[in-house]
Amino acid sequence: MNESISVLFVCLGNICRSPMAEGVFRQLVEEEGLDGQIRIDSAGTGDWHVGESPDPRASDVAWKNGVELRSIARTIESGDLDHFDYVFAMDLENLHDIQALQRAHGGGASIHLFREFDPDAGGELEVPDPYFGVGDGFDRVYEMIHRTASNLLDHLRVGLDPE
Ligand code: 4NP
Repeated sequence: MNESISVLFVCLGNICRSPMAEGVFRQLVEEEGLDGQIRIDSAGTGDWHVGESPDPRASDVAWKNGVELRSIARTIESGDLDHFDYVFAMDLENLHDIQALQRAHGGGASIHLFREFDPDAGGELEVPDPYFGVGDGFDRVYEMIHRTASNLLDHLRVGLDPE
């Protein structure tokens, strides 16, 4: 990978899924010594939690796995579609909202569903929203995000193509 690239992870509230994706991906990038080459951020399509740290349930599961989440919630804005090369949506609602923003304002970002890069997706392309869930929701979502982020990084190294 010669040129620097930039990636933005997007969910609804920017306090659960996209902060986990940002934190995990950043850690993988740092472990590979690629941190000078990839710019990473996250955002939400909704504004309820702007200015907040990640949900403690997301921070706890990440911390348990050796990853610190440091994001502060913000909403996606039209300029993001000019300033990021790739945008990865956690679910279809996020994808459609980002595509609508691009139709309205333009911007050259390449927009994907994050789980297009999940090697174990099994046809399920959304990261389920764990916010209102119970039980092992955050653990399951963390594992899904970790394996997807790892595979995504492998693809970004050679040029993005989910196949
Ligand atoms: P996230 O989860 O989109 O993964 O950050 C949510 C966080 C907050 C809300 C919904 C989903 N909410 O409705 O406040």
